[in-house]
Amino acid sequence: MIKSIKHIGIFTSGGDSPGMNAALYGATKAALANGMRISGIRRGYEGMIDGDFVSIEEKDLQRVVHKGGTILKTARSERFRKEEGRNAALKTLKKKEIDALIAIGGDGTFHGLLAFSELCTLPFIGIPGTIDNDLTGTDYTLGFDTAVNTAIENIDKIRDTAESHNRVFLIEVMGRDSGYIAIHCGLGTGADSILIPESSEDFNWLLEKIRHYHSEEALILVVSEGDELGTDMVASKIREVNPSVDLRISILGHVQRGGNPSAFDRMLGIRLGVASVKAVMEGQKNVMTGIANNSLTFTPFENVVKQHQVNTELQELLTLFYLK
Ligand code: F6P
Repeated sequence: MIKSIKHIGIFTSGGDSPGMNAALYGATKAALANGMRISGIRRGYEGMIDGDFVSIEEKDLQRVVHKGGTILKTARSERFRKEEGRNAALKTLKKKEIDALIAIGGDGTFHGLLAFSELCTLPFIGIPGTIDNDLTGTDYTLGFDTAVNTAIENIDKIRDTAESHNRVFLIEVMGRDSGYIAIHCGLGTGADSILIPESSEDFNWLLEKIRHYHSEEALILVVSEGDELGTDMVASKIREVNPSVDLRISILGHVQRGGNPSAFDRMLGIRLGVASVKAVMEGQKNVMTGIANNSLTFTPFENVVKQHQVNTELQELLTLFYLK
């Protein structure tokens, strides 16, 4: 164990995701069991700048391990993007005598950590927490499984009404730059097409389908919010090529970010929380904990923030089900 680490600061940042509380629980348990102090930093980088620190108790976290959201609250910090903000955060960390930082968040959080590591020599460990599943270095990010299940539950419900009316539903799911959520819930609900930012052929294929569509059946069309055309444009093109389509648009939105984490996300959070403290104790720095082939991984921040793509196997599934 690195003797100098006595006090860990932990925070959640960016969009909340189900499983963040479980990760806090895991990290807190591991830190306390190894004789370290752990403090929560509220509202992500914002709280770091403002000195908004709270003590966190294992007992309190045990009671929220099943809850979505984050008890530490979260934020997207504009101030931390500027060097002035990062300097202010560094000052606070020194004042609070923090020896190591654990961050739970997505792409923006890791960009922040990378920039901060140029200024601050403390060890940083990251935990992937985003429903988008768009970080390199882990098979799954915290909250993705729950978000997909929520989306699937809602799409199944939409199908009931779509089939009753023989309507066409264009359903937008989250994923700022990534089609992971769209592919999983599209295939899992038997959708009739899936549009993702990573494919350029999917839209033409859909238009052909719509051109030949006769109104005696329902269609479920899933579109990722990150798709290059955007949901509104897709809808207007559908109406343009086939004005007889009885089209409805449904944007699932933030409902996908909430709700109790799935069993998978609870366990993933606990495992990654514990792993992040172990990483600190082993002297690792500037790496993200993750999971690949059900084993822990540690990926340098520079690789985490690289452009992430839907993997080849999933791309092939899309081709097999929709583009042939
Ligand atoms: O956290 C990821 C995410 O939910 C994306 O899927 C989405 O594009 C974005 O966050 C929405 O962010 P906000 O809640 O800040 O509008």
